[in-house]
Amino acid sequence: MNNLPAWLADAVFYEIYPQSFQDSNGDGIGDIPGMTSRLDYIKELGCNAVWVNPWYDSPFGDAGYDVRDYKKVAPRYGTNEDAKRFFDEAHRRGMHVLIDLVPGHTSIDHEWFKASAKYERNEYTDRYIWTDNTWSLPGNTAYLRGMYARDGVAVANYFSHQPALNYGYAHPDKPWKMSADSPAALSTRETIKDVMRFWLDLGTDGFRVDMALKLVKDDDEGRPANIRLWQDFRAFLEKEYPHCAMVSEWGVPKESIAGGFHMDFMLHFGPPAYTSLFRGETPFFSKEGKGDITAFLDTYSAMLASTEGKGLICIPSGNHDMPRLARGRDMRDLKICFAFLLTMPGAPFLYYGDEIGMRYLAGLSSVEGGYFRTGSRSPMQWEKRTGFGFTSSATSYIPFDQSADAPTVEEQAKDKDSLLNAVKQLLALRKAHKALQSFGGFTSLYAEKGKYPFVYERMAEGERIVVALNPANRRAEVPFPLNGKILWKVGEAPKGGTMSACSAAVILIK
Ligand code: NOJ
Repeated sequence: MNNLPAWLADAVFYEIYPQSFQDSNGDGIGDIPGMTSRLDYIKELGCNAVWVNPWYDSPFGDAGYDVRDYKKVAPRYGTNEDAKRFFDEAHRRGMHVLIDLVPGHTSIDHEWFKASAKYERNEYTDRYIWTDNTWSLPGNTAYLRGMYARDGVAVANYFSHQPALNYGYAHPDKPWKMSADSPAALSTRETIKDVMRFWLDLGTDGFRVDMALKLVKDDDEGRPANIRLWQDFRAFLEKEYPHCAMVSEWGVPKESIAGGFHMDFMLHFGPPAYTSLFRGETPFFSKEGKGDITAFLDTYSAMLASTEGKGLICIPSGNHDMPRLARGRDMRDLKICFAFLLTMPGAPFLYYGDEIGMRYLAGLSSVEGGYFRTGSRSPMQWEKRTGFGFTSSATSYIPFDQSADAPTVEEQAKDKDSLLNAVKQLLALRKAHKALQSFGGFTSLYAEKGKYPFVYERMAEGERIVVALNPANRRAEVPFPLNGKILWKVGEAPKGGTMSACSAAVILIK
């Protein structure tokens, strides 16, 4: 059993990208005291949980996903005491915190890797995956070669400066490949459990797990070896930290939930379902109205059925790895997107700044291994003034949005028709109606290939709520009346079965 923490029933997460959220010491980079000072904002928005991207000590070749020390906060963000204060302050407000766990790889600057790369055998020799000589290449994967005294090639897990920790291979068909239950692979697991203990003892409520699906290499279809590995972590958590909440970067809930995760993301990789909603060539949520909701729904329905109520599918507004939701959309379009995102089952994840429609900044030079992702990682826009209230410095580590009409929290808070207020209203509605929360039922009422609108029903405890969405810039019809009490809307309310162009409605049936 995955021991679902009760608070997940109405959880709504806010993703904080620490370096871009709030700078408290004027160095142009966000930090933990800054994050703590903005907890009230997140709570007032209607989010009751946060996911914090990696805040560990790191050379920042991949924005902190290249960990140098798992047990130390990066000095630029503050200290471990600041992290503890962040947990405490969140808890004082009834909020929960998940931090990012990066178990698949470290930075090349990690002491374990430096020791592993030595010629002499030592306790870290097998902590990473190495071939047995510098000329035997690990196959179709990135690797590090010719850089260390050790005779061998280190397998990279993501960028070439992120060597893969050794969890073994599902099919060790070469002498240098170890099995997933070899002593070295098992000892890597224990080391990561130790890291988890450290942060759980300091106050985290759980983890978002980076690249969780790929720890054991060369796994079979359905990833049985990775599922077995995570079941071992589940057993550890059940025993020592049953309250710990776990969300995976996996994208196949059937597998991740079998592995003991509580939540899994729909993502821009894996099945093309998420991409068909908001990104890609012809997304469903677009004025052009050339999308196909069945491309999402067929996959989603199968995923939902596969969870059997044992875990949650989380549909994020975006994240630090994909172009911002606002790209190619105006504020009205974005309200329709949020009407969907905040009324679906599972726990929504709101990427910082999406609630005000922060833009994707195209054409920026790569910062901290961001490449195209850099445009989605620009500093939070709190107020319209130099530094946007993000920093007292005139510059920041990623350039600000230079446009004259760059959205800000301050302006939108004053405008009752703003996106920010629409998001607040939708979150308040979700809080007030169990039908709209994580475990409320879901039935599609109208979803036709290549057609608009998309209409579905949510239900719980005898209450039924219909959500009708027409992002297309033309009228759309359904063959049944959309009657009931309008709880929230964008554009004109539906008349009979007709929805006006670019409109959405949340309707209480009974
Ligand atoms: C997924 C993270 O979200 C991404 O930002 C990172 O670059 C890779 N994993 C590697 O850790």
